[in-house]
Parts: sequence; C-alpha cells; structure tokens
Amino acid sequence: MTSHPRAAIILGAGKGTRMKSALPKVLHEIANRPMVGHVQAAVDALGADRTVVVVGPGMDNVAAAVAPAQIATQERQAGTADAVMAALPALEGFNEGTVLILFGDTPFIEVATLERMVAACEEGAAVVVLGFEPEDPTGYGRLVQESDGSLQAIVEHKDATHKQREIGVCNSGVMALDAKLALPLLDEIGNENASAEYYLTDIVGIARDKGYHCAVAMAAEDEVLGVNSRADLARAERIWQDKRRLEAMVNGATLRDPASVWFSYDTVIGRDVIVEQSVYFGPGVRVADDVIIHAFSHLQGAVVESGAMVGPYARLREGTVLSEGAKVGNFVETKKTTVGAGAKVNHLTYLGDAQVGAKSNIGAGTITCNYDGFNKSPTIIGEGAFIGSNSALVAPVEVGAGAIVGAGSVITGNVEDNALAIARGKQVEKSGAASVFREKAKAIKEAKAQEKNN
Ligand code: UD1
Ligand code: MG
Repeated sequence: MTSHPRAAIILGAGKGTRMKSALPKVLHEIANRPMVGHVQAAVDALGADRTVVVVGPGMDNVAAAVAPAQIATQERQAGTADAVMAALPALEGFNEGTVLILFGDTPFIEVATLERMVAACEEGAAVVVLGFEPEDPTGYGRLVQESDGSLQAIVEHKDATHKQREIGVCNSGVMALDAKLALPLLDEIGNENASAEYYLTDIVGIARDKGYHCAVAMAAEDEVLGVNSRADLARAERIWQDKRRLEAMVNGATLRDPASVWFSYDTVIGRDVIVEQSVYFGPGVRVADDVIIHAFSHLQGAVVESGAMVGPYARLREGTVLSEGAKVGNFVETKKTTVGAGAKVNHLTYLGDAQVGAKSNIGAGTITCNYDGFNKSPTIIGEGAFIGSNSALVAPVEVGAGAIVGAGSVITGNVEDNALAIARGKQVEKSGAASVFREKAKAIKEAKAQEKNN
C-alpha cells in the first residue's frame, strides 16, 4: 500500500446501444486491447490498491476481460451515481485515501493526469473533476467555476440554463473523490432532474453545501475522448495510432509511410528499425534494433532479434522467434517456430512447430507438414542444414546438422547429420522419345480435322 491509498472505480455498465453490437461497448478494442483494458492500464500504472469495474447484468465477458479486477454489477441503469454506489460494497473498508472514478469508454486517460487529480485530493479537495474544453460542448455537463477556479457545481446539458450552456469547460466524467469526505455524500444524491437519473455530478453541489473544497483539473480533448459509436471508435483508433507512430519515430525507428503502419498496444520496437509501407503489428510483438521489415508484412506474437529481415509479404504468427540476422522473405508463414541466427527462409514456405538451426537454408516452397488433422508435431532442423526447394517435411521429423535434403523430397524419416536425403521418384530418360511423341500427336490431330471436313 502507498502512504495514501488509492482505489479506482471504472464504470462500464452502459450497453452502448449506438455501437449496434452484441459486444458490450467497453470490450470494443483500440490497438487490439478492449477500451476498458486501456483504462485499467492507466489505473495500474497509478498503483491503485483496489480496482472495481462496474458492469451490467450478464456482462460476464467484461468480467473475464478485466480479471483479476473486482466486479460489481449494477442491476438497473439509474445513472452514474447509482453505478458508483453499486461499486461501494467492493470497496468495503476503504475509508481513507482517494477514489478515482473513470469511464470504461474513455480509454485514453493518462496516468500523469490521474496523478495530478490525486495530488489535488491529497491537498484537501473533497472532489476533483477533470474538465476539458471541447470544440463543441453540446451534450456535456458544464463546470460552473468560482472566480478563484474552484468548482461550484456541474450542470448537465439537459438541465442547464441558456447562460450555463455558454460555459466552454465541460465535465470529462473522470473524478477523484476523497474517500473520507466525499463517499458518505453519495447517499444524498437524488434523481430530480431532466433524466430522472442519479447524477454523480451532483456530488459537487452537495460537497460545497458542506463547506468542502472542490477543484478542477484540466485535460486535452483527445485524452478524454469518449466512444459512443463505431465512427468514434475509428477516430479513437486513429488518434492512438498517430501517437504511437510518432513515439516509434521519436525513439529511433524509420517508418517509410507512418500512416500505413499499424501498431498494437504492446508493440515494442527498437532503434534503427526500418518499417516499410503497410506493416501490421498484432499483439505480442517485440522487435529488437537494426531490423528491416519490408512492406506488407503481418506480425503477431513474434520476437524479431537484431539484424533480422522480414518480408516483403511475410506472416509471422504466434510463437515465432527470428534470431539475430535471420531472414524470412516473401510469402513465408511461420508459427511456433524458431529460426536460428543467420538462417534463411527466403521464399514461399510454411514453418509450423519448427526449430531451424543457425545458418540453415530453407529452400523455396518448403512445407512442414505439422498437422495430421488431429495433432501437431514438431520439425527440428539442425545447424547449417540445406532443405531443397519444394520439400515436404512430414512431422515429427528431424533433419540433422549439415544435412542436405534434395529438392522435391517428401521427408518422412529422420535424416542424420551431414547426410544427403532424396525422397522423390527417380528420373527416367528416353532418348528421342519426345520427337516420337510429337509426330504421333500431330498425326491424330490431322486425322480428326480430316474427319470433320468430310
Ligand atoms: C456523463 C456526465 C457528464 C459528462 C459526460 C462526459 C453524469 C451525470 N454526466 O454524461 O457530465 O459531460 O459523461 O462524457 O455523470 N454508466 C453506468 N451506469 C449508469 C449510467 C452510466 O455504468 O447507470 C456508465 C456508462 O457506461 C459510461 C459512463 O457511466 O461509461 C457515463 O455514462 P453516460 O450515460 O454516457 O453519461 P453522459 O450522459 O454521457
Ligand atoms: Mg456518455
């Protein structure tokens, strides 16, 4: 526990009807991570001692996605204060410190902002509200501030007077509450308003009536962007991607066409990495320094060590490791495969459940037959081995170090070190037979044409 304990409540009970989706809104993904996961990451970075996620009835998939966070179910959607109340039993005993309230559909909140809010709370504010100045404030709650900047009240757009609607500073929804001062006030919130909902925002007025100080912290509009529709989701994704692309470049990667490079939330990319056009990084990719990723490559769950080359048109799937200086070229797919240092897999190959020794050469069109329709089996290729083009390696199988497999082979048995294995039909040659064949064929064709004319 930190000296000042921190807890977080993430609200996610909303159905998100405008998403037109069977999936709860907060599970829709940005950068391949559910929105609520982004919020959770910020809360974790803050070092929250306890996190509660409020979900609606039947949202077991949200519960699974946020595990091991605690879950509270809000039985009926009666407003943001009601949602926070639903979380309180899970915070039993949390009577001192700061409670942050966040929205599961507001994914870009930054830990530095949360830190500022916690600091304001620790300096004596009962409630700290995160404000922002949107280009268009329509629909948002407005922050009514005193001349000294302290917060007097939050008025929902629906309930605001004409004059209040002219206020540009809006409520992002993110709040920090002093547990001792503010949590007991939740009980006093009523639902006499335009929506007949229990507004969490009413806590400000109530705290003020008690003589408590309420403060405002500010954030940029992008940081508190809320997602309500698929179009919002796409906009949020673009904002995230642009930021991440810039970060990659700032840290020393060259992106030839940044707008076409797609990152995941956990992509790690080193220095002096060159990423060409239209490259996709799925979850779980780590790229070391001095790597070139050529255009149209698709990577997921893969580790690429320094000096390696990928693509163009390569697909590295889950469990791929490219060791130092390894090359995986065009139309090559790898899965659960380690390619040893300096090994080359340059063209048109599938490697699944395979280990390729250092400095091996895997010829064009090599396929590891790793699946028999029921089970997966491994292929092990030793150091410095050479697999001839268009070979099928029927797993489980081992090809020894320094061994050579003749092109077009179907290898079903192990090949010992330094052996030459050839497993294909023997070549038969008949002198002059091609000319004989052509003469015969020509004669048949001419006879048919004659018949037709008669
Ligand atoms: C809320 C704020 C408003 C602010 C705006 C920012 C209130 C009363 N109003 O309005 O001042 O400008 O967000 O986007 O707080 N939720 C529940 N249970 C409920 C209701 C909501 O879990 O019963 C969750 C939703 O899933 C969502 C969040 O709380 O994540 C906000 O709810 P929403 O209905 O979108 O509030 P707004 O009307 O947008
Ligand atoms: Mg909203």
